[in-house]
Amino acid sequence: MFDRVATRYDLLNSVMTAGLHHSWRERAVDRAELSSGDSVLDVCCGTGDLSLELAGRVAPDGHVIGCDFSEPMLDLAREKATARGAAGVRFEWADALSLPYDAGRFDAVTVGFGVRNLADLDRGLREMTRVLAPGGRLVVLEITQPTRPPLSTFYSLWFDRAVPRLGAFSGDSEAYSYLPESVRGFPPPLRLAEMMDAAGLERIRWTVLAGGIIAIHSGVLGP
Ligand SMILES: C[S@@+](CC[C@H](N)C(=O)[O-])C[C@H]1O[C@@H](n2cnc3c(N)ncnc32)[C@H](O)[C@@H]1O
Repeated sequence: MFDRVATRYDLLNSVMTAGLHHSWRERAVDRAELSSGDSVLDVCCGTGDLSLELAGRVAPDGHVIGCDFSEPMLDLAREKATARGAAGVRFEWADALSLPYDAGRFDAVTVGFGVRNLADLDRGLREMTRVLAPGGRLVVLEITQPTRPPLSTFYSLWFDRAVPRLGAFSGDSEAYSYLPESVRGFPPPLRLAEMMDAAGLERIRWTVLAGGIIAIHSGVLGP
């Protein structure tokens, strides 16, 4: 499915979020508390927007790896990096459920709008925690469900009616019916925090943005 939607992904992201996804990514990167020279892994990197934001924060001496299991997404990320002249970032194939990186390798791991899609969320969180260095930060940016009206009502109209129609208009109704379904099936913020705790992280906190539509979780791997 992600291979199929790759070429339309950026445009639909901007239309569906009215361009707000860029500021959400910036907020998520802030939570990774990066310094120049840090080494960062961006899991489920898609077309690379979050990875490129990270690369700017760790420049000039740091490194970012964006990984994903969709080659069409990775190709678009590589083209974007080249077009922007981004340095210190590379994109490579990896399955988030079995990351091909040594334990303790990264100062920070991020995942933007990715964990909701994992077939085994606990396993994905354990893998991301495994590759963190002691003191390293995991940041999870994800869509969440507002619980209070009027936003919960608007959200339901937007996600259940408008998003699948936009998807159909773009030629892939299945992929954009999957989107609201995957959000509904995803754990609420407190439960996700508990799962991060179970994966071995400490100092877990989360911020809810955009009236309850977006959650940014972070946790630290203890020394
Ligand atoms: C909704 S996109 C998010 C892309 C990007 N992080 C962003 O912020 O726009 C989800 C991405 O997760 C990837 N993905 C889903 N499951 C994966 C897995 N098990 N391993 C690696 N990538 C995965 C998909 O290929 C897709 O590119």
